[in-house]
Amino acid sequence: MTTRPRLTVLGTGYLGTTHAICMAELGYDVLGVDCDAGKISKLDGGEVPFYEPGLAELLTRTLASGRLRFTTSAREAAEFGEVHFLCVGTPQKVGSLAADTSYLQSIVTELAPYLDRSALVVGKSTVPVGTAQWVENTLHAMAPAGQDITLVWNPEFLREGFAVNDTLRPDRLVYGIKGETTPALLDAAYQGIYDLAAAEQRELPVIVTDFATAELAKSAANAFLATKISFINAMAELCEASGADVVQLARALGHDARIGPKFLRAGIGFGGGCLPKDVRALRARAEELGVAFGLLDEVDATNARRRTSAVTLALSLLDKPSEAKVAILGVTFKPGTDDVRDSPALDIATHLVDHCAQVSIYDPVGMDNARSALPKANYTLSPLDAVQDADLVLALTEWDEISSIDPELLAPAVKQKRVIDGRNCLDARRWRNVGWQYHGMGRH
Ligand code: UGA
Repeated sequence: MTTRPRLTVLGTGYLGTTHAICMAELGYDVLGVDCDAGKISKLDGGEVPFYEPGLAELLTRTLASGRLRFTTSAREAAEFGEVHFLCVGTPQKVGSLAADTSYLQSIVTELAPYLDRSALVVGKSTVPVGTAQWVENTLHAMAPAGQDITLVWNPEFLREGFAVNDTLRPDRLVYGIKGETTPALLDAAYQGIYDLAAAEQRELPVIVTDFATAELAKSAANAFLATKISFINAMAELCEASGADVVQLARALGHDARIGPKFLRAGIGFGGGCLPKDVRALRARAEELGVAFGLLDEVDATNARRRTSAVTLALSLLDKPSEAKVAILGVTFKPGTDDVRDSPALDIATHLVDHCAQVSIYDPVGMDNARSALPKANYTLSPLDAVQDADLVLALTEWDEISSIDPELLAPAVKQKRVIDGRNCLDARRWRNVGWQYHGMGRH
């Protein structure tokens, strides 16, 4: 075994691309693998196929160093790597709440027949509990090296928008292993991350457990975060009905160290490629295992209701929606990303497109993805262009550029000074002081 084992990263989506680039940055020789030749040639050419702050610069640097390469060949991956990271996506299955693990199944069954010497396989994808056991069984049955292939389940907790930092500086590492000791190859593969933590005098907790607990650690983390958001959004509904203010309520709650202030921002709810599908996948898996977990249905339903009630509020504020012009500021599922997967903002925009004369959208980086998902909207180059002649403005993603927008600057452009603050990110008093009718979420 070398001190810096050669790594492969299978699946170059959000997780895999970031992982491959960051591990090369830490000094490892890394081969990124994907069956999508288009994606591979983009990455080879130095282009990150999505927006993530800092990642493009690191890709350029690591490609130039010669430590990072990409391929579409599973055979090449098996020949090259001592440690293979499984990073493929597990989206929601069409027509079901469950996760679709077919990409994982494909990559494992493609790689296994070429694994002819001992190697470590590290599963990072978010999977239904029980999947790791299937992966291990398959590797042992299909790989010529058989039992010399070791599997570890090591879920990833990175956030979009902070992906580079979260990968280099994880707040914890979870290792699901078989047996008593962590494989030395795993420690060697993560030595760069351990060293960085030591150099920065940061604690890096490592939780060593079994496969099932490691798989559940990830599903539970996302489900808990979603639950926290839906809880505060349910409180927002109660605030709306009782005249209370959910922003102040969240501050009052957050000072209790047992509750904490994070993930208590009420608004139009959670979206993205992870939280919504992971809540549903955990619900589906619990049901398969005969465990009642209706709490998750309510988390999902509360989240959906926030979108519907934002649409209802918007339509109720317009005299004649079919003749109205609506402006939407921010369309990605959160700031710091161009991702519009299951974006609450895009969902609301889609409903308003069906009811209103015109919907104009501005987003600092999400326009291309939004345009392909919702071509019927009008896309503008600035917030000021978007609000031109608008009867209603909706701020739906809290980009700094949107939160800090000057209401006086927008005022002369709009037809009606009405704003819905879907993320409670605007300074309500400032907007009201210059004559805007301001509507927050769960606040008066
Ligand atoms: C989430 C988790 O936070 C990561 O730990 C996890 O690794 C990742 O999923 C994943 O499974 O890959 P991410 O999808 O990047 O990360 O987004 P979050 O920052 O968790 O935000 C999710 C959604 O919740 C966003 O739409 C955001 O606007 C919303 N949110 C967040 C709220 O509505 N209120 C809050 O207080 C916080």
